Amino acid sequence: MPYADLREFIARLDACGKLHRIKREVDKDWEIAAVSRIAFQSIPEPKRPALMFENVKGFDTPVVLGVNGASRSIYCLALECELGEVQQKWSDAELRPIPPVLANKGPVQENIFKGEQADVTRLPMPVWTVGEDPGPYITAGCIVTKDPDTGVRNVGTYRVQIKGPRKLGLFINYLQGGREHVEKNNRAGRSTPIAIVMGTDPVIGLVSVSRVQADMDELAVAGRLRGEAVQLVRCQSVDLEVPATAEIVIEGIVRANQLEDEGPFGEYTGYMGPASMSYVVDVTCVTHRNRPIMQAFLSQMPPSESSCIRGIGREATLLKHLKEDLRLPVRDVHLLEHSGAAAYLVASIRKTHPAQPRTVMFAAWAYAPQFGKFTVVVDDDIDVRDPDEVNWALSFRVQPESDTFIMSGTAAVSLDPSQAAASVRQEESTRRLSSKIGIDATRKHKFPSLALPPGEHLERVRKDWKKYGFED
Ligand SMILES: Cc1cc2nc3c(=O)[nH]c(=O)nc-3n(C[C@H](O)[C@H](O)[C@H](O)COP(=O)(O)O)c2cc1C
Repeated sequence: MPYADLREFIARLDACGKLHRIKREVDKDWEIAAVSRIAFQSIPEPKRPALMFENVKGFDTPVVLGVNGASRSIYCLALECELGEVQQKWSDAELRPIPPVLANKGPVQENIFKGEQADVTRLPMPVWTVGEDPGPYITAGCIVTKDPDTGVRNVGTYRVQIKGPRKLGLFINYLQGGREHVEKNNRAGRSTPIAIVMGTDPVIGLVSVSRVQADMDELAVAGRLRGEAVQLVRCQSVDLEVPATAEIVIEGIVRANQLEDEGPFGEYTGYMGPASMSYVVDVTCVTHRNRPIMQAFLSQMPPSESSCIRGIGREATLLKHLKEDLRLPVRDVHLLEHSGAAAYLVASIRKTHPAQPRTVMFAAWAYAPQFGKFTVVVDDDIDVRDPDEVNWALSFRVQPESDTFIMSGTAAVSLDPSQAAASVRQEESTRRLSSKIGIDATRKHKFPSLALPPGEHLERVRKDWKKYGFED
């Protein structure tokens, strides 16, 4: 059964022991970030819970984070599947999307604030990298825009700086779906309607941070992922529709052809991302449920919710593309969390032709041009998620001169701090072009036998393990 809304999912996390409620009063301007950071750094990933700050100083709205991806098991609870089924679920959702349906009304509009009343500072927006960020930021907005030519909707998560009660800064990186819509309108001299949706059924948040085909409505992909169409309501002040059971929606207009300073912002690379000339949004309306819940994604230094949710979704869609669209013999792919689920890609293949490792690299880079600055292809006996196995393959299946190559002139992760000095602004072209290293760590000839005891001996010992005096 799909979750009707964020509240139902939070109740499920609570029932599974995966929600930690913080009753002590916390200051949104420093304490939420500090508590969350220590929780993410000190609690091992499998046990890491979502956090609910129930008592935010000066506000009666609680803040939740980690709800979509404090850990992989939370991500799987959101998708209602096992980790091994994630790729198939995503693949099915892109092949057989379920379009959303329009409802007459929904709880997200139980409270409506227009004009002067639409004040976003009445919501508890946390400050994330205190002393470095210029102020509070929305990190878990699912930002809805429409293609002005085709009407196809895009939903993407982009950072939003709170600049005033009714003014926001919006950073949409190049090559993103939402940017294409704003730029098309800019070229025609028109402003762009947007809706920033916060606190949805968890599937919508997961789709919002993942790349789906450009001509596909992300809410239709969400429909198939949850097994039921997403219900929408019309916005109050802009020509867009938003999920009917969301907690909070900020409606607004992106000013045509106007950019302003935004950032710097503590980014998923673990470093400050540079300031940028970014879009400016005028808020036209705020709607929310009764007793709303404010959702945030924890980003900044990995491990973070941001790299967990981006990584799993990106891996699923990339694997589908390589295996199903291109029919390459790829078994698994992994974007390492400490690379921000961006810089370091490992793919395993069942090689039948010596050109396949490079074919897989080129295909991955064509699908996601910014990712895989380091791309390693291993044989399918290597578990791409086990760093020891990958490093073993790198150590003994690679001859650097013949098995590595560098591709120049490729798309960069513009937030990568090795790309340019901290003083170089986000929009500078030196942040856009990079290079990639491809490493073929598959075996290129017959290898000697593995230096291990025979399999049957290991099996016998495993069965009798406790008899050797070991606990487990
Ligand atoms: C917490 C978080 C914050 C993000 N912030 C931004 C951002 O500020 N700008 C951006 O372009 N992408 C950002 N992303 C990445 C996009 O959400 C992601 O690339 C997504 O696929 C974009 O949607 P689109 O493909 O529909 O444009 C963020 C992702 C996460 C998880």
